[in-house]
Amino acid sequence: MAMKKIIIGISGASGAVYGVHMLKMLGGMENVQTHLIVSPAGWMNIRHELGMDKRAVRALADHVHKDGDIGACIASGSFRVDGMVIAPCSVKTMASIANGICGTLIARAADVCLKERRRLVLMVRETPLHLGHIRNMALVTEIGAIVAPPVPAFYAKPKSIEDMVDQTVANILDGFGLDIQEHLLRWPGLKQDGLQQNGLKQNGLKDKG
Ligand SMILES: Cc1cc2nc3c(=O)[nH]c(=O)nc-3n(C[C@H](O)[C@H](O)[C@H](O)COP(=O)(O)O)c2cc1C
Repeated sequence: MAMKKIIIGISGASGAVYGVHMLKMLGGMENVQTHLIVSPAGWMNIRHELGMDKRAVRALADHVHKDGDIGACIASGSFRVDGMVIAPCSVKTMASIANGICGTLIARAADVCLKERRRLVLMVRETPLHLGHIRNMALVTEIGAIVAPPVPAFYAKPKSIEDMVDQTVANILDGFGLDIQEHLLRWPGLKQDGLQQNGLKQNGLKDKG
């Protein structure tokens, strides 16, 4: 199988766990190479929300780039990648991408994905949203990005925060054609026996879709 190259950006929105969990999941896969960029606010939230230091997070990625390193390989379209996920994506970073402002490596790498027509997923986290946020969501969608706010799927009957994060991250990676079968619950339809009483995973109904 050909090597897949995925860029993970972690910006300063709440939900650093999504980016870190994604790195862990990708790190366990053969034939996947990860490129990590964390914004300064992203590092703040990693420390605050997860209590992790930079070294521990960097160790999860194959390649780490500084957010100020506009000369990094991933700042150019000639460096081929399969796409990028910003997990989580702040409204500030989304606004930059929506308007083509490439002042950070996260925004530049995202802009490159869009111009090269590569998959770009923004896990935008903010609530509530004002009209400016919603307009920027529309703008990024019009230029080719996928806006995927990290909203838990309660039909999956999660038992812990980790379950919720796992399902959300698996869903995003599924869109890249990656093998996440162990993590992803595929909806089998409400008519399956026992679904409503006991939950999908307990009934062995995952991955039947
Ligand atoms: C603890 C904490 C939580 C934050 N949560 C959010 C959030 O959920 N969404 C958001 O858009 N910004 C959030 N912010 C603000 C961003 O970090 C801030 O706007 C920052 O400038 C974003 O820069 P970046 O996109 O380059 O990381 C938060 C900041 C802190 C310190």
